[in-house]
Amino acid sequence: MLSHLFLAALFGAEIIASTTLTAPTATIDSGVVIGIATSLIGSKVIVDKFLGIPFAASPTRFAPPASPTSWPWPYEATQFGPACIQQFNYPEESRNLTIYLENTPPPPAGERFLDQRFALAWVQRNIEAFNGDPEKVTIFGESAGAGSVDTLLTAFPNNPPFRAGIMQSGQASFNINPTNEPTSWLALSAILNCTSYASNLTCLRSIPASALKSTIEHMALPWPAVNDNVTSPRYSEAARVNRSVANVPILTGTNGNEATILTVGETNVTAFIENWVPQQMIQSVLAVYTANDPDSIANFFTDYAFHCPAAIVANDSQAAGFQTWRYFFNASFANTQVLPNLKAYHGAEIDLVFGTYPKQDSTEDEERLSQSMQSAWAAFAKNPNRGPGWNEVPDVAVLGPGVGIYGDGTGDLRKIVHAGSLDGGCGLFRKLFEAIGVAAAGYTGE
Ligand SMILES: *[C@@H]1O[C@H](CO)[C@@H](O)[C@H](O)[C@H]1NC(C)=O
Ligand SMILES: *[C@@H]1O[C@H](CO)[C@@H](O)[C@H](O)[C@H]1NC(C)=O
Ligand SMILES: *[C@@H]1O[C@H](CO)[C@@H](O)[C@H](O)[C@H]1NC(C)=O
Ligand SMILES: *[C@@H]1O[C@H](CO)[C@@H](O)[C@H](O)[C@H]1NC(C)=O
Ligand SMILES: *[C@@H]1O[C@H](CO)[C@@H](O)[C@H](O)[C@H]1NC(C)=O
Ligand SMILES: *[C@@H]1O[C@H](CO)[C@@H](O)[C@H](O)[C@H]1NC(C)=O
Ligand SMILES: *[C@@H]1O[C@H](CO)[C@@H](O)[C@H](O)[C@H]1NC(C)=O
Ligand SMILES: *[C@@H]1O[C@H](CO)[C@@H](O)[C@H](O)[C@H]1NC(C)=O
Repeated sequence: MLSHLFLAALFGAEIIASTTLTAPTATIDSGVVIGIATSLIGSKVIVDKFLGIPFAASPTRFAPPASPTSWPWPYEATQFGPACIQQFNYPEESRNLTIYLENTPPPPAGERFLDQRFALAWVQRNIEAFNGDPEKVTIFGESAGAGSVDTLLTAFPNNPPFRAGIMQSGQASFNINPTNEPTSWLALSAILNCTSYASNLTCLRSIPASALKSTIEHMALPWPAVNDNVTSPRYSEAARVNRSVANVPILTGTNGNEATILTVGETNVTAFIENWVPQQMIQSVLAVYTANDPDSIANFFTDYAFHCPAAIVANDSQAAGFQTWRYFFNASFANTQVLPNLKAYHGAEIDLVFGTYPKQDSTEDEERLSQSMQSAWAAFAKNPNRGPGWNEVPDVAVLGPGVGIYGDGTGDLRKIVHAGSLDGGCGLFRKLFEAIGVAAAGYTGE
């Protein structure tokens, strides 16, 4: 059970002025942890915070996670541990922009999701020690994080360790680069001369992490999940359509201008589309995205990589009988336009959901929208069957239609529209996803 320990008792000498400042403790399956009492941004409520609890043993590179050894003394969970080494790929033209980041390479066997499953199992075993309820877990993520949520949803048909999922600007069901082969792993082994070892796993484990990082960045190697059909299904949407997935409500949505930040510096619409679209469909795609300008490129990539796949997932989920809510975030605020004219770009909603948007030069409307989104997300997590506060699909909540730089001036924080008014361009992408081979033959989604 969660209890409090006076800081004074803990650290002896220094008595902190405030009487409310006591250190929370909890006893979990590997020992006692001591956290800190604090308040979160935008709130004066004192909460207990535990940071950096080792949920697994110190890792062996590319190996599945293992349980930590129990600690005999209270573990001071007062600061974050070091972050994982991340891969940053960024095109020449926009060197100073972080375009995307992914986890370090998974081993060939497709163990990418074992750490997430391990962490969710940890929550099931231990969350009661923090006064949590293991039966009320909602998982949520943005971008690749939303892809992880989708993978957990579609690869956990029975007894999922969560009861709801939120996907912000991402999904894994229409992976634009599906694979059953560890292509990048083999390329990395080859370039680092790991072919002469009996096992390239042993060889790649022996290479300094910094060398691995610079090599995969230099080669811009992608690390899509290798579909093992256990932790990552090859045809997740087919599984969703036939209900072989977690039976939980979902909240999903995308932003109005996802790709503006991802296509900075791109000026040739033909060259861009050729890079993503199979030969036989290039002409029909170019017939829709006709203008040879950055807006056209960003619109194509927003529809292709975010809006349409998320919309199809939402429709399929609803049609398969899972409660499904959808939003369309469409607000732009001057103090978060990291480059001019990005509008509602990829990631722009995150700080509003967390309340961590920059307070400098923020507007009252920004604060109101942030609070309204926090309430919606919290309402969904508290009672997923009742949703975030609007009707299920095909209704879609446009978030922030009346506020910000491009708002209609009404001050409205939410406007309900029919999915049909947003998804007019998506028919093209259903055909495209089939052509790419992300949908199974005989896929019977809408
Ligand atoms: C990127 O950052 C470096 C170092 O801060 C700076 O010298 C360079 O001019 C920047 N490049 C662009 C394209 O902004
Ligand atoms: C791999 O082997 C080749 C040929 O021996 C050599 O030229 C290259 O430098 C080696 N690469 C690394 C990363 O050791
Ligand atoms: C890596 O090891 C696997 C398994 O032994 C082997 O099939 C593969 O050919 C190796 N790859 C390279 C590039 O050596
Ligand atoms: C996963 O399923 C797909 C489609 O049925 C199949 O092509 C692939 O070989 C399977 N992968 C594994 C690792 O079994
Ligand atoms: C549902 O679809 C998945 C993915 O194609 C397939 O593996 C599974 O066998 C299907 N289940 C049923 C009951 O049809
Ligand atoms: C745009 O890209 C296409 C296809 O790669 C190429 O044929 C064309 O010359 C490019 N246009 C310009 C203006 O660079
Ligand atoms: C989203 O915002 C843009 C302005 O950036 C506006 O033109 C568009 O109509 C809005 N979309 C919806 C569905 O409200
Ligand atoms: C989703 O379903 C609605 C209602 O049937 C439809 O209007 C909309 O076009 C669909 N979206 C996609 C991407 O298929």
